[in-house]
Amino acid sequence: MAINYQERIPNNVDLGNDRRLQRALEHWQPRFLDWWQELGPEGFQTSDVYLRTATSVDAKGWATFGAVKMPDYRWGIFLADQEKDRTIGFGDDFGKPVWQQVPGEYRSILRRLIVTQGDTEPASVEQQRLLGQTCPSLFDLRNLFQVNVEEGRHLWAMVYLLHAYFGRDGREEAEDLLMRHSGSEDNPRILGTFNEPISEWLSFFMFTYFTDRDGKYQLKCLAESSFDPLARTCQFMLTEEAHHMYVGETGISRIIRRTLEIMNELKTDDPAVLRKAGVIDLPTLKRFVNFWFSSCMDLFGAEISSNAAITFANGIKGRPDERGYEDHIARDSVMNIEVPDEKGGVRIEEVAVRSAINDQVRNAYIKDCMVGVTRWNRMIKKSGIDFVIELPSSRFRRNIGAWAGVPTAPNGEIISEAEFNRRHDEFLPSESDRAYIHSLMQQVTEPGKMAGWIAAPDRGINNLPVEYEYVHLQ
Ligand SMILES: [Fe+2]
Ligand SMILES: [Fe+2]
Repeated sequence: MAINYQERIPNNVDLGNDRRLQRALEHWQPRFLDWWQELGPEGFQTSDVYLRTATSVDAKGWATFGAVKMPDYRWGIFLADQEKDRTIGFGDDFGKPVWQQVPGEYRSILRRLIVTQGDTEPASVEQQRLLGQTCPSLFDLRNLFQVNVEEGRHLWAMVYLLHAYFGRDGREEAEDLLMRHSGSEDNPRILGTFNEPISEWLSFFMFTYFTDRDGKYQLKCLAESSFDPLARTCQFMLTEEAHHMYVGETGISRIIRRTLEIMNELKTDDPAVLRKAGVIDLPTLKRFVNFWFSSCMDLFGAEISSNAAITFANGIKGRPDERGYEDHIARDSVMNIEVPDEKGGVRIEEVAVRSAINDQVRNAYIKDCMVGVTRWNRMIKKSGIDFVIELPSSRFRRNIGAWAGVPTAPNGEIISEAEFNRRHDEFLPSESDRAYIHSLMQQVTEPGKMAGWIAAPDRGINNLPVEYEYVHLQ
């Protein structure tokens, strides 16, 4: 039976007139749906969920809202509008026209970048597949599913590029994106962080705040790419990504607000008492921040990287908001970065700006992470509580780069391995912290009701009340 792709897959890439692409998608789509049934959100495939669906790239009205069963979600393909006469914004070919096709010499490197980005999208859906069973409210359940279907759409976005521009190898890579699985022994997802299961909601909010924000910065770098279809795809993905980080930021805010309420009610900051009262004490929350932030630091790669220098020089992957930098070519410029001196101290190393691209992207990310942290601290201070959440140093708990394997305290001070091990439970979530968080995870599905460890949101979705039945359970 012929499928009307124009109807089934909302798109602005004229899918209806590209037979070759249609055939490729006809082949891939049923596999995607099988994957979604098998490894997507467990237990809610027949529920009606109030979701937004991207239906255009119009800044004002790009999405429509309505109840849909997730397997019937219309995963679409959208590229931001083409900028007329766009030129290369950085690197050796600065100012030349951007590429509408993949240059032969950059084919494998571009394919690898697209596959790596694409791999994270279904990975996160897999990581979060059991969370629905312990949702703190229907509002949160709906937000989880919104994030999940959009990560599914981001997979579609990358698969579109692979199918449309990389021929047979692209089609093979698209198949493999459904074959690797998060946490699998023999065929895991590409990046480490995406193989850790997310089995409770504190980590889900941390993931959407910190890890989705890493996604934002990767997309920002790719949105600068000279390969124009990739740049336009990533630009549009960023509009959806903003909601994922909003889910994270407001989720953590609501947890803090609830904890502050109980702290003031009981007039205590004793974690044991607060745990008895069923809220998440601030020191535990801070250890989760330390864990998730530091695991994201590695996602930016090594401080000094010849790969990053090459993809920058070639115009393949830029820096976030490249226009804000003064020198877009950076051929001979240098900068200083801090590296361990192997004698327990720090030394300054002068490196080419191009070799330190990862560090520049990481620093932009850190600055962006601070915005929410500052807001949380303001809320804590306002309620009269003396506690500060700090982001750990980028040196802390690294597995990649100059600081890999160098034990430090969260403030970046180098310490001995013995001290790190001794103080582990002060820095990072302990087994008992995790057990406590798990003990809080009880499903709440009465419309408008919240679990005891999280405050109600300020507002609902799309101007609906918080009490709206966002997921109609079946
Ligand atoms: Fe995504
Ligand atoms: Fe996301």
